[in-house]
Amino acid sequence: MEIVESPFELRELCNRVRAAGKRVGFVPTMGALHRGHLALVHEAKRRADFVIVSVFVNPTQFGPTEDFSRYPRTFEADRRCCEEAGVAAIFAPSREAMYPSGEETRVTVGITDKPLCGVHRPGHFEGVATIVAKLFALVGPAVAVFGRKDYQQWRVLVRMTADLMLPVEVVGLATVRDADGLAISSRNRYLSESERVRALSLARGLSMAVVAFNGGERRAGALRRIVVAEVEPMADSIDYVAVAEPEGLQPFEEDALVGGRALVAIAVKLGVTRLIDNVVLGEDPAPI
Ligand code: PAF
Repeated sequence: MEIVESPFELRELCNRVRAAGKRVGFVPTMGALHRGHLALVHEAKRRADFVIVSVFVNPTQFGPTEDFSRYPRTFEADRRCCEEAGVAAIFAPSREAMYPSGEETRVTVGITDKPLCGVHRPGHFEGVATIVAKLFALVGPAVAVFGRKDYQQWRVLVRMTADLMLPVEVVGLATVRDADGLAISSRNRYLSESERVRALSLARGLSMAVVAFNGGERRAGALRRIVVAEVEPMADSIDYVAVAEPEGLQPFEEDALVGGRALVAIAVKLGVTRLIDNVVLGEDPAPI
């Protein structure tokens, strides 16, 4: 497995892979790899011949009060994990390599990045879209796999890739969960034992919404209240519980009726940890 640190070596490597008639698979990450990332790697391996994982904790997607400095950095473990999973190369650039002339140019994705997490993390999706556009520009024609746990991020990146006409197929993979339903996340390692127990209310609330929807409930407000009732007593604070349109992500009014599919998305804080989770009603199974 190769470790590449220079952006331009990454570009050359991808060109060589394609010149040899192989398809490039790309899994962008911030490291601290877990089973969820491994599922992305396996999906990329299914769709491509040469899989590259990038490991870069991108400073421009963290707000001033967020966890950039304490975000877990576990490169040795990530390297072993990639090697065992059959990854062909890791791209691990420095901040200076990715932003050599500062952070002047930004990519903004119109309305998709405004609702839900966009309200509570201003500038976050701009940082994500900017770094992923830069990574896609280096990798070139490829298939890139993202987790749908970060549902809004996936939608922002689908839109960004289409609008900028980048030659990358963007795939969103279903959320990977622990046996008890908790969505796997690098941030779960911040949770104390009791916070982890309380965190299960997210999967429980979403499951209750799936059951209600499958039983015929279509009132957006009623679906939302089912989730709030489960999560509110357990979370330290709620950023949002929203029932939204699954592509454009605009939340439904309380008295609206949802159609055949609807996104239910949650963001809460438990202690110092911010957790997100979601299901698409009419599409995803109940998490529990
Ligand atoms: O999902 C992540 O880990 C990050 O937001 C990403 C897509 C690697 C961009 O830094």
